[in-house]
Amino acid sequence: MFAPAMHPRMWSHPATRANVDALVARGAVMVGPVDGPLASGESGMGRMADPEAIVDAAVATLAPRDLTGARVLVTAGGTHEAIDPVRFVGNRSSGRMGYAVAEAARDRGAAVTLVSGPTAIAPPAGVEVERVRSAMEMQAAVSAREGEVDVVVMAAAVADYRPAEVAAHKIKKGAAELSIRLVANPDILASLGASRAARRGARPVLVGFAVETGDLVALARGKLSRKGCDLVVANRAEDGFEGETNRVVLVDAEGDEALPVMPKREVAHRILDRVVGLLRRPE
Ligand code: CTP
Repeated sequence: MFAPAMHPRMWSHPATRANVDALVARGAVMVGPVDGPLASGESGMGRMADPEAIVDAAVATLAPRDLTGARVLVTAGGTHEAIDPVRFVGNRSSGRMGYAVAEAARDRGAAVTLVSGPTAIAPPAGVEVERVRSAMEMQAAVSAREGEVDVVVMAAAVADYRPAEVAAHKIKKGAAELSIRLVANPDILASLGASRAARRGARPVLVGFAVETGDLVALARGKLSRKGCDLVVANRAEDGFEGETNRVVLVDAEGDEALPVMPKREVAHRILDRVVGLLRRPE
């Protein structure tokens, strides 16, 4: 239940405290009140929680606990590949899809690690967050945990290339033309797939993403086999790279399932429904 806006003295009143304590003891989850400016002009502990926080709490409370005991690693955001101390090559990934997967996995009972490229999103509560910048840093963070996790969801938009040299000092303008030579980054997902195949194991369950502008399902299916993963979440570049919603096709060895446009939180749960099924396979 959520606490409606009230005066701070009302919230701290012994009768209110006793009633709230009784509800919590019976299993009610309280959302708010929160500290802040009140309608009366005063400020204090009496503000109704943001509607979004109330919805989040309701969704979290109602989520199935079917990932209890599972260790889930999620990567999110784009990577920044340094050109010099102040510039980088990057992409427009918002990181929202990966953060949504991390939060949904947490709500379903998993122990979640989020390896995040630079994003403007607040770190989710109850999730271990490791911040990285470049693809090389992301690879180091992922491979350090590879043997400890049951699931890896690679939602990050990892840069395929990085500048061959990083200038030690800020590059000054002057030349009429400037070229930056790029070299290939390691493919994190493909190396997870290859090392799992070498072990002939079924863990970690591997989920990849594919953002495409061409034949979506065919390209995603190519990635599924090339990278040796269990599920590819495919979307068109125009459908979900930056916004709050996404329209994806889930592609696995058995076939493909096109989902309608939905909030990223809901896409995250659909992906995790598949992950729960994949975790039932024998190791
Ligand atoms: N990925 C990765 N390491 C990279 C590049 C991508 O782990 N260096 C992962 C992404 O996190 C995503 C999936 O691979 O889950 C698909 O990435 P994408 O860039 O679309 O695939 P590529 O193999 O790079 O194919 P292309 O750029 O040719 O479409």
